[in-house]
Amino acid sequence: MKIIMSPLPLLISLLLLLFLSTHSISISPPPPQNLIQKTCSTNTYYDLCMSSLSGDPKSQDSDVRGLSSIIINLAISNSTNTSSYALSLSSNSTNTSMKTLLRSCSAKYSNASQALRLSMDAIQKNSFDDAFVHVSAAGEYPNVCRVLFRQQPKLVYPPEMMKREVVLERLCVVALDIISLLIQY
Ligand SMILES: *[C@@H]1O[C@H](CO)[C@@H](O)[C@H](O)[C@H]1NC(C)=O
Ligand SMILES: *[C@@H]1O[C@H](CO)[C@@H](O)[C@H](O)[C@H]1NC(C)=O
Ligand SMILES: *[C@@H]1O[C@H](CO)[C@@H](O)[C@H](O)[C@H]1NC(C)=O
Ligand SMILES: *[C@@H]1O[C@H](CO)[C@@H](O)[C@H](O)[C@H]1NC(C)=O
Ligand SMILES: *[C@@H]1O[C@H](CO)[C@@H](O)[C@H](O)[C@H]1NC(C)=O
Repeated sequence: MKIIMSPLPLLISLLLLLFLSTHSISISPPPPQNLIQKTCSTNTYYDLCMSSLSGDPKSQDSDVRGLSSIIINLAISNSTNTSSYALSLSSNSTNTSMKTLLRSCSAKYSNASQALRLSMDAIQKNSFDDAFVHVSAAGEYPNVCRVLFRQQPKLVYPPEMMKREVVLERLCVVALDIISLLIQY
């Protein structure tokens, strides 16, 4: 069979091709940004997911596994920071019950950091089920601190501790939702 290519259809196809390529370049964002958005789109805390990942330049060339590590590292930094903060509050307090309680809280946040480090090890070994379990545990420790305060109603749960509790718990949920994307069902 002989294909006759007249100039007009050829010109039209070239123009169409040019139109499509320039058009798609202007519409779709670069792939890495796409992956962050795609990863966060199904997250319970979309905004926290986006801001936490966008805040780290490493996320620009990370796969989903890398994005989960970035959130976990942020959570480690948060829990370690709060553990020090609670210890500092404890040493500044003059009330012995308050001192004891805050020292326990500091230990719980330290336990959270430890669980998060175990989840990092698991991510590195592609053991996503294990990573999920460790992050779940990490997300429960801040709650233990609040429950300790609830058991002693005369002592006020410091508002700053409450704020930090919420941030860490949410970061853990963000991480869990991302790890879920890595688990093969
Ligand atoms: C804790 O996480 C929040 C939310 O991503 C972040 O803005 C903050 O910088 C973190 N703090 C530390 C000490 O890691
Ligand atoms: C925790 O974070 C606060 C503010 O983000 C910072 O001022 C403080 O130095 C940090 N503490 C530690 C132990 O990292
Ligand atoms: C504890 O007291 C020291 C010295 O006054 C102060 O620098 C520090 O910020 C206090 N810690 C907390 C968590 O408020
Ligand atoms: C600590 O503070 C609480 C609440 O103000 C008070 O009921 C308690 O007696 C105090 N404990 C000590 C050992 O001062
Ligand atoms: C929490 O940390 C303390 C030491 O800070 C440790 O003794 C304890 O076993 C840890 N708890 C868990 C459940 O890992």
